[in-house]
Amino acid sequence: MATTIAILSQKGGTGKTTMTRTLSDVFGRLGLDVLAIDADPQGNLSDYFDTDPGVHPTLAEVLRGQVRAAEAVHGAVIPANMRLAEAELMLAGKIGREVTLRNALRDLKRNQDLILIDCPPTLGLLTVNALVAADRAILSTEAQYFSLQGVEQAMEVVDLARDSLNPELDLLAVVLNIVNMRTRHARQTLDALRERFGDRVCRTVIRQSIAYAESAERAIPILDYRPDRGVDYLSLAGELLRRLGRQDLLEALDELSTAVVPAGARA
Ligand SMILES: Nc1ncnc2c1ncn2[C@@H]1O[C@H](COP(=O)(O)OP(=O)(O)O)[C@@H](O)[C@H]1O
Ligand SMILES: [Mg+2]
Repeated sequence: MATTIAILSQKGGTGKTTMTRTLSDVFGRLGLDVLAIDADPQGNLSDYFDTDPGVHPTLAEVLRGQVRAAEAVHGAVIPANMRLAEAELMLAGKIGREVTLRNALRDLKRNQDLILIDCPPTLGLLTVNALVAADRAILSTEAQYFSLQGVEQAMEVVDLARDSLNPELDLLAVVLNIVNMRTRHARQTLDALRERFGDRVCRTVIRQSIAYAESAERAIPILDYRPDRGVDYLSLAGELLRRLGRQDLLEALDELSTAVVPAGARA
């Protein structure tokens, strides 16, 4: 039975899609059967997976009930495009609109180890569907002014999903993303996050690097494109595995880290 993790934030540009792509890659390399789901009509995750722009069917057709989720899996992703925005509008008028994705994924969950859902940049119906379908949520946040409020807002939506439709939903982690720890502001943001959210904030922060945009543009995972920059995600994967109770995979993660980033090349 798959563990399903929704990756969200209250706005765009906080590194959600990059996190979904990279964690899919890392966990896949550890031997897990990972499925990524693009729940953003912008389709950035689908592009990062190098999915054909004309791909069909997509998540939109799944949410419309036209195809089963399994039929929309292309490689390791259920892709999305602008048709997802129409599907969301259609969904809004339906009974059971918040549980549509959960119901659609039920069969797939049996055959996967891990499902990662990349949420859109708003806390609307698609994000709610992702949270209702998920067992765990990861909040990604940038080190910017007001980011604390943003995390609070996202947290409220997580609480809402838990209290109404998904009592099992658990916040797995808050991750400070795209940070430049040399700035005092980033350090202050991290301190404020820790003060407010305690242990839920990961020790690992994902440092800022232009290599991520380049890797996305080329549709190559960061561990292939610039492994020395991908180390932050290896360390994040370790923290997440511990939190998920999957210590059995830590040795494989160590081996992977040594293989992709020889000691001397660490950033
Ligand atoms: N650690 C990072 N350092 C610098 N740029 C990053 C990093 N992670 C992601 N990016 C870039 O920042 C932009 C937003 O990231 P993305 O993952 O698309 O965020 P979101 O899905 O939250 O909108 C993209 O151009 C991406 O390549
Ligand atoms: Mg995105």
